Amino acid sequence: MKRAARILAGAERVLVSSGAGMSKESGIPTFRDAMEGLWANFDPQALATEAGFRTNPRRVWSWYAWRRERVGDARPNPGHVALAEMESLIPGLVVVTQNVDGLHREAGSTDVVELHGNIRRVKCLDHGHAYDGPLPPFAEGEEQDPPPCLVCGSPLRPDVVWFGEMLPADAVERAWNLAERCHALLLIGTSGTVWPAAELPLVARRHGGLVIEINPEPSELTHAADVFLEGPAGVVLPELRDAVRAALG
Ligand code: OAD
Repeated sequence: MKRAARILAGAERVLVSSGAGMSKESGIPTFRDAMEGLWANFDPQALATEAGFRTNPRRVWSWYAWRRERVGDARPNPGHVALAEMESLIPGLVVVTQNVDGLHREAGSTDVVELHGNIRRVKCLDHGHAYDGPLPPFAEGEEQDPPPCLVCGSPLRPDVVWFGEMLPADAVERAWNLAERCHALLLIGTSGTVWPAAELPLVARRHGGLVIEINPEPSELTHAADVFLEGPAGVVLPELRDAVRAALG
């Protein structure tokens, strides 16, 4: 913890790269955690691909509507809050996240790059027309059809990146620039199995950045970590914030 704090206290530019484990203490299940992961009960090909949506728009729309409700009820956890507070200690801190829940911003982080979109937004399937009007309420156990786009009539879909889709180009460009230039990368709660996001710590290392990882268990990227802080983000991050504050004097 002391070594991690010293690295962060001495770093001008810090890139945070977060995954599903970051929001676990907010009650949002991770993707790959055995038993309770979101995918344990569902087939990802059927729910998180364009082909799956075109085959069964009602089921896929309803599944995302259900997830959107859960995210809507979720609140930032002490880890999100500690990270937002670290901005006052390390002004050059930017968050790049694979999460689609928007909780970093809600906690107060001011510079957040979303690599996989945001589940609170929707757009149309055929042309990507943005839609920011009201959505019909969704009751647990219900199924509903996706509403039509007001511009072209094609069905609305969640504005998240599905398997086989490109990540938003501006987000990727910014994230890779930040990784190349950061002095330290703080990797939080990701299994490191989904590319290209998993490459960020490797990019940082290639350019001389140090990698600090927070995870209750080793991930596919632990081999690339200079410091591994074992434990849940909601517990470790508040301790790390205090340690950085102490290191700064
Ligand atoms: P995963 O579900 O693959 O991995 C979650 C990670 O969080 C694991 O390494 C856990 O050990 C760790 N973890 C669990 N509890 C934690 C806690 N309390 N604090 C910190 N870490 C904890 O999630 P991601 O790596 O984010 O993509 O998955 C990446 C992408 O896979 C997602 O963004 C999604 C999915 O397909 C898209 O939707 C495009």
